[in-house]
Amino acid sequence: MLHATGIYKSYGTLAILKGVDLHVAKGEIVSLVGASGAGKSTLLHIIGTLDRPDKGTVVINGTPIDKLNARQLSAFRNAHIGFVFQFHHLLPEFTALENVCIPAFIKRVSKREAEHRASELLELLGVSHRKGHKPGELSGGEQQRVAVARALVNNPAIVLADEPSGNLDSENAAALHQLFVELRNQLNQTFVVVTHNEELANMADRTVHIKDGMIESHQG
Ligand SMILES: Nc1ncnc2c1ncn2[C@@H]1O[C@H](COP(=O)(O)OP(=O)(O)OP(=O)(O)O)[C@@H](O)[C@H]1O
Ligand SMILES: [Mg+2]
Repeated sequence: MLHATGIYKSYGTLAILKGVDLHVAKGEIVSLVGASGAGKSTLLHIIGTLDRPDKGTVVINGTPIDKLNARQLSAFRNAHIGFVFQFHHLLPEFTALENVCIPAFIKRVSKREAEHRASELLELLGVSHRKGHKPGELSGGEQQRVAVARALVNNPAIVLADEPSGNLDSENAAALHQLFVELRNQLNQTFVVVTHNEELANMADRTVHIKDGMIESHQG
């Protein structure tokens, strides 16, 4: 599903990633851990095509992404990659349902089809009773579940999450982690999750540690 090979990234003279290899199979949940500043978000952005490596290749679902131009890249990203961030980044003026539909609209899916899929996901995530609410009218856990639904609406090859539970209390954090496992079990969804939360790291199939610009893998 994902092959990142020999990834290097520096900021000026500061070498952050020094030959990272990360391979993730379909339906696998991989957690990415490491000290603050180790390069976790940097790696996630490179995998997510939001940033380019100085050297190395990223292949997602058989597509080498360095071959794509800027326009192809944003279309590819919208269609194949779902993002969940620490802060949900939902649009405040739109309802939960509309927020979930937006990536589908960008992909030019019809309104009817997008709303159908979005409603299904909100149901699956247990927030369908709040689909007419705007983000400000939702709890933190509900907002994060809506953000997960938005990440899933285009059936992405891979969901990338950067400290998705960092902003939640322990109960909601545990529920979100359980949700990732259920989505993997039900939809065979693939996840790479950056987390400081040991519980979440332990729920993953595999934990990848970033240290000194390199990674080491352990079966979870
Ligand atoms: N645009 C940039 N310009 C210069 N340095 C940067 C830039 N982005 C990140 N860095 C540096 O690269 C290092 C890695 O940053 P990154 O955000 O990947 O860390 P992280 O592992 O996600 O840390 P955290 O757990 O605190 O989120 C940090 O030392 C950071 O200061
Ligand atoms: Mg980070």
